[in-house]
This record gives sequence, C-alpha cells and structure tokens, in this order.
Amino acid sequence: MRLSLSVILASCFASTLAQCSYSQLQQLSANYVASRSTGQISTLSNAVYNENFKPATLQSSILSQPLRIDNNRSLHDTTACATYTELISTNPAHPYVIGTQIRYTPDTLQATQIDTLITDAGDWLFNATGTLYWAQRENWSTIPEAKRDSRAVIKAGADAYLDLFTNKSTVVPWGTPCARLEGGSYTGKGQPSDSCNLGVPSRVVYMTNRQYVIDETVGAVDVFLNFGGCATGRPDSHEYRLEGGKLRFIHTITVMNPTCPGLPSEACLCKQP
Ligand SMILES: *[C@@H]1O[C@H](CO)[C@@H](O)[C@H](O)[C@H]1NC(C)=O
Ligand SMILES: *[C@@H]1O[C@H](CO)[C@@H](O)[C@H](O)[C@H]1NC(C)=O
Ligand SMILES: *[C@@H]1O[C@H](CO)[C@@H](O)[C@H](O)[C@H]1NC(C)=O
Ligand SMILES: *[C@@H]1O[C@H](CO)[C@@H](O)[C@H](O)[C@H]1NC(C)=O
Repeated sequence: MRLSLSVILASCFASTLAQCSYSQLQQLSANYVASRSTGQISTLSNAVYNENFKPATLQSSILSQPLRIDNNRSLHDTTACATYTELISTNPAHPYVIGTQIRYTPDTLQATQIDTLITDAGDWLFNATGTLYWAQRENWSTIPEAKRDSRAVIKAGADAYLDLFTNKSTVVPWGTPCARLEGGSYTGKGQPSDSCNLGVPSRVVYMTNRQYVIDETVGAVDVFLNFGGCATGRPDSHEYRLEGGKLRFIHTITVMNPTCPGLPSEACLCKQP
C-alpha cells in the first residue's frame, strides 16, 4: 500500500514538473536547426519574436535566410518546455554566432516566444572562427544519471557567477579545469589548473532580466540577460556547463549597444538595476 501510494505520488509529481518530454524538445530543436539551413520559418511564424531584446519581424530576420551552419548545440528544458540553441556560421560572406531561446506550449508544442541574439562583426570579441574552434574542443555531452546536478544547483551556479558582478563577496562554485569562451576569445590554456575565476569588472555591473533554459542531462543552463541592467545595457547570453555542482565551461554572446560602444563608460553604467 505504502509503495503504490509513493509510486502514484512520484508519478504525479513528475508530471507536474515535466511539461514536455525530452525527446519532443530534441525533435523541435533539430527542426529549428535544420530550418535555419533553408530559412524556412513556417513552424515559428505564430510566435512572438524578439531580436536582440527588441520586438522584430521574423520574415525580415537572418533566421528567414538560408544559413551555412558549421556547429549547433541545444539545451532542452522539460520543466519550462523550452530550448536554447547555439549556432555558429563561419561563412566568410557573413559569419554569425546566434543564440536562440524558444518557448513552447506544452500540449500543442507550438512555439509561443522566440528570443534571439544575433552577433556578427563588431559585437563583443566576435570571431566566429574562434568560437567554432574552441566550442568543438569542449565536452558538453550527457552526464551519467547518477552524477547529474539538480535544476536548482545548476541555476544557482549561473546566478552566483552573475551576482559576482554586483556583489564581489558572492561565493561562486568554481570548478577546474574551467574555460570561458567570450565571443571568439578563449581563456582555457589546456591545463588541468585552468580557472574561470579570472575577475570581473571592479565596478558594479547589473545583470538583470534573467531568462533561463536549464538542461539537467548535460548540466547546463543558458541565461539571457541585460548586461549592465538599464536602457544602456547589452543584450547578452551567458551559458554554463557544470559538473558535480562546479562550473566547467562558460559561453557568452554579447550584442554591442551602439549608443555605448566598447567597454561601458561611466556615463553608460546604470546607477541602479
Ligand atoms: C547539428 O549538430 C549535429 C551534431 O551535434 C549534427 O549531427 C547535425 O547534422 C547538425 N545539423 C545541421 C543542420 O547542421
Ligand atoms: C579568430 O580565431 C581564430 C582561431 O582561434 C584565430 O586564428 C584568428 O586569428 C582569430 N581572428 C582574430 C581577428 O582575432
Ligand atoms: C564527456 O563528459 C561526460 C560527462 O561528464 C563523460 O562521461 C565523458 O567521459 C566525457 N568524454 C570525454 C571524452 O572526456
Ligand atoms: C553579498 O554576498 C555575500 C555572500 O553571499 C552575502 O553575505 C551578502 O549579504 C551579499 N551582500 C549584498 C549587499 O547582497
């Protein structure tokens, strides 16, 4: 009696947590990637579309053009029914690195919201060839079930790193080795002692409006956020891979704000979030 009750409770609990199945989301992300090769947007066209955090039109976006894809990797969040995809195109005609979060309605699996960050020449440390080179050398593969971190631990790792920009006393779960791939620039030296604890700006930089896609199977979370925290902040993605609760890889995609280019000057820093 006790066993069957706990089985019933466990299955109820599981069904309230998982809104979409992992395999459904894998199919959706594979479709998304394949249709970037062709520029097909029909399955996405009913969704709200934001490009670099501004409402935009999918039909006039790069996503509606055939794109040469050199690398793609996706996260699948069964709780939020959402995916995150990193696309790298080193096409010399126009290289891009594109990060996209897509939210789906659980029952119909229709895309309801698409948020995309499109970086190219002139964006922060942009170098698609470099991004491709380093991304392909990292191991973001599935973590054996017994070793997986919980959703809460993965999210807390990302939040600690982002909180460090405002509170320098934040305790961050640094792992080793760890490498930061920021634009196309890499901090890893191929040493077991490689650390991601390389410092953040000494002044306060707010990291606001965080929007998460979390995939426990690969220990990863992608966060879309406002890097800087107010109207002069930059549209940004910080993606983390954790193993055993510790940060191992960090990828950033940052869109420059034309009104505040380069490193934010004092005039561009937000005085409050
Ligand atoms: C996306 O990446 C997978 C490997 O992770 C590859 O098998 C697939 O062909 C890629 N898709 C496209 C359209 O490039
Ligand atoms: C881009 O990255 C590649 C691979 O790391 C490197 O060879 C190249 O010099 C970089 N280009 C620039 C402009 O930094
Ligand atoms: C990649 O990471 C997974 C999960 O931690 C691990 O099981 C696997 O052995 C790693 N592969 C390599 C080549 O290190
Ligand atoms: C900064 O982080 C430390 C360590 O977590 C915490 O004790 C402290 O309250 C935080 N300060 C503020 C102003 O949030």
